[in-house]
This record gives sequence, C-alpha cells and structure tokens, in this order.
Amino acid sequence: MTGEGIGFGKAIVFNEHFVVYGVPAIVSAIGKYTIAKVKTIDEPGWRLNDNRKATPNYKEEKIEQQKDSINRILKKMDIDLSKNGIEITLDGTLYCASGIGASAASCVAIARALSNHYNMDLSDEEINSIAYEGEKAYHGNPSGIDNTASTFGGLIWFEKSENNIMDRISLQNPVEIVMGNTGKVADTAAAVAGVRERREKNPEKYKEIFARAENIAYLAKDAFQNEDYQELGKLMNENHKLLQQIEVSSKELDFLVKLARDAGALGAKLTGGGLGGNIIALTPGKDLQERVANAIEKEGFQTLKTVIGATRGMR
Ligand code: PMV
Repeated sequence: MTGEGIGFGKAIVFNEHFVVYGVPAIVSAIGKYTIAKVKTIDEPGWRLNDNRKATPNYKEEKIEQQKDSINRILKKMDIDLSKNGIEITLDGTLYCASGIGASAASCVAIARALSNHYNMDLSDEEINSIAYEGEKAYHGNPSGIDNTASTFGGLIWFEKSENNIMDRISLQNPVEIVMGNTGKVADTAAAVAGVRERREKNPEKYKEIFARAENIAYLAKDAFQNEDYQELGKLMNENHKLLQQIEVSSKELDFLVKLARDAGALGAKLTGGGLGGNIIALTPGKDLQERVANAIEKEGFQTLKTVIGATRGMR
C-alpha cells in the first residue's frame, strides 16, 4: 500500500519577517505543489527519494535540515519505524528554491502521506500542526505562515498569536503573478536571527517600520477585497522598501524587483526570508505576466508564472 499527500507552494504577499512578531501578513498558495508518497520497506528506519527539481545547491545545503525535519514529523506523529521502515518519495510541480514554500510544502505533503499510509485520517488542522513541527528544522522558530498556506491553500490573512488567526480572503478571480528566482539559496533561520539582532539594537527605528508594516497589511486587505490591483502594487512596493530597511533584501533581489517594475508589473517585492530566494511581481492578465517574465528571463533568471487567490484543489 502507498500513502500519498499534497502540499502547496506559497508566496508571502505582505509582511514576511514582520509576521514573526505578530504583525498581520497576507500569504497565498500558488498553483504549484509537492506530492509525497510513502511505502513500507523491509528494513527499519526511513529512506528518501527526492525527485523534486531544484535550484543548484538547494538540496545539498538543506540536507541536514531535511533529515531533522522528517525525524520531527515522525516523532510528532508517533510513528515507530524500528521494525518496518518506510520509503518516502517527493515529486510534483513545485521546484525547490528559497521563498516559494518548498520546505513547508514538503512537510505538509509528507504529513498527509503518512496520515494516509497509516490510516490516521488526520484533519487539516492536525496536518498543519505536524508540518509546523517539521518546519522548525528549517526556520528555528517559524511563524507558521508557510505551513498554513501549504496546508489550506487559497489567499490567507495570517496573524501569529497563541491561537494563530487565519482568515480567508476571497477573490472573484485569481490574479496572475510572476516569481523571479535569484538562484541564491538562502537560510531563513539566519535571516530571521539577523532581524532580531538589529531590532534589539535599534528599537525606535524598528518600532516605526513595524507600525507601517501593520498599516500596510490592513490597506492591502481592503485593496484585495476591492480587487484594486493598482493600489495593491503600490503597497507591495512600499512593503519591499520596509524589507530593505530591515536589511533582508539583496542586490539580486533589488535588481529583479526593478526589472519587474520596469517591465510594467504593478508592484514587486522580495518574498519569503530574503537575502536570496525569490521576488513576487503583481501582473494581472496573461499579457503583462508574459512581458514581466520575459524581461526577467532575458537577464538569465528563472521565473515561475502562476496565480494567487485560487481556492484549493487547483491541481
Ligand atoms: O523563506 P521562507 O519562504 O520559508 O519564508 C520565511 C518567512 C519568514 O517570515 C521570514 C519567517 C517565518 O517563519 O514567518
């Protein structure tokens, strides 16, 4: 018998990093996903076939975190592999890169495949909290935003608190985005730690930046609800400025953001942990999406054309 599970890729549209401190953020699942398959094998323990496509060095750099993550998931699910072990296979349409939810999607897919394989029939909430445990291996102390988007899909308002707040934002129509990959693998845990250090050193400066980030989240929610993409684009640009101020952008990210804007994107910003990884550009309509993607590709960078705001089940 083989168990199977899916986890969606994601793009943080507003307020990565700020979300770690309880500032509201907006995240969307994207139309790419990871599939995990689990089957029983004769030997004890687990082994992995990771068939996902990846940015060069991504898998090598994350290998220890990945092992730790799978062990955490197995422990949280109380799965004993001392007699019969398992083989886990990862596949799907989501390539591995920083900032697109590759780690969260794999945690969710693996948790779902294990639940399916061992007939545990776990709810989405339970899968989400198991994936959160797996994400700790990659992030240190994750906000939980990535695994939430990877589990539930759709466009989500997320606030970290004792009982995380998660509200769906419904769009009439999903909207096109382009993600641009710097090709640099980034370490989210290190990026988060850097922000913490600088925030402690400059409390006044950071207080102001964080207050503006919070304000942007509410304005962005309204703009989504009104499907006012001009306004959303402006807010994304402003959000990128704040991310520059907390020093999580990079030369390559700023370059891709500029390319996207110059090609007509309504807004563009880094997405995810930063210091490498991906940007997200808002490009309503297939023509604009194509134009922005071409401009980025012409400079030798990989892109991903997808949508945000689709409800789950977009396979
Ligand atoms: O680097 P990613 O795509 O895993 O995103 C990390 C998002 C942060 O806000 C920087 C960290 C977190 O746990 O929310």
